[in-house]
Amino acid sequence: MAEALPTDPLRHHGDVEVRGSDLLDLAVNVYPGPRPGWLDAALRASLDDVGAYPDPTRAERAVAARHARPASEVLATAGAAEAFSLVARLRPWRRPVVVHPQFTEPHAALEQAGHRVTSVLTRAADGFALDPAAVPDDADLVVVGNPTNPTGRLHPVDDLLALRRPGRLVLVDEAFIDTVPGEAGTLAGAPAEGLVVLRSLTKHWSIPGVRAGYLLGTPDVVAALRRGQVPWSVSTTAAAAIEACCTPLALAEAERRARTIAGWRTHLVDSLTALGTTTLPSRTSFLLARLGEGGRERLRAQGVAVRRCDTFPGLDAGWARVAVRPPDVTDRLVAALRAGPAAPAPAPAPVQPRVQEDP
Ligand SMILES: Cc1ncc(COP(=O)(O)O)c(C=O)c1O
Repeated sequence: MAEALPTDPLRHHGDVEVRGSDLLDLAVNVYPGPRPGWLDAALRASLDDVGAYPDPTRAERAVAARHARPASEVLATAGAAEAFSLVARLRPWRRPVVVHPQFTEPHAALEQAGHRVTSVLTRAADGFALDPAAVPDDADLVVVGNPTNPTGRLHPVDDLLALRRPGRLVLVDEAFIDTVPGEAGTLAGAPAEGLVVLRSLTKHWSIPGVRAGYLLGTPDVVAALRRGQVPWSVSTTAAAAIEACCTPLALAEAERRARTIAGWRTHLVDSLTALGTTTLPSRTSFLLARLGEGGRERLRAQGVAVRRCDTFPGLDAGWARVAVRPPDVTDRLVAALRAGPAAPAPAPAPVQPRVQEDP
């Protein structure tokens, strides 16, 4: 039996599925390795400065240099999550669109700001490909993830750029692009009118407790988003993390981690495929697996947590999001899948209309 939906599905996140439990965690997409020494040193050293109010100027300059953009095009944020509410409150959006299935915080933030959201659904049958023509012409805000959580889909840059229109803001959430070797497909270094790119430092650097992220956009949009920020929202420690993660040493380590993840993912895909479990092609640190309804609950009974997917618009309880982990951890997942009772035949994914207006 599939579990009942949480009361607020858009505000459900993977961390809740492991909180306070001793389950094997394949639900949270944080890199499962120790913090590099240079990052640890920067975080600890930042405590010497917490007697003063935080100032993200140095962090923003470091981000600007890393992406070869002027500092006026950078805004440090308290994690990527802060940026969603800043964007939601930026303008009186007439037709904000969220491309689903994707991370639900932007949708929740838009609703919280009083907007009525239009969902444009990508579909499993198309590998969750983005069709820019499916976005209504009058959309003045379009939010899309790249690579997308939870589908793992990396959209081609041209499809993302094709979303731009006069008077429209396109928000590309690149929270997981650092897991893609070479950051293939990033738009962070490509300034464009009407484009805002969002980055998170919390997953790849295993510091979700330090709210560190940033966004990149044209100077006018960045200045307007800055005006909406709560004063001092980026703490001294978060600013130190942002700065530390922009050095050449950090970028080299980020690339090593991305390549490691790609190797681990091959093992995960091969293992699940050998069990007869359908997976969708992923370019990032998690993937969608068709465990069938009740499959996630059976895994929990075996001590393994994967992320439920029925809280994502456009997905049903037959899907689970599985974090990419080192081979020995994947092997424990496989053992649990083998030990569980046979999964029922996977239900076909329901066909939904592509554009859905929220009530
Ligand atoms: C796709 C996506 N974007 C943004 C975020 C928020 O990231 P942060 O921890 O930087 O606030 C998450 C967190 O899980 C995410 O999955």
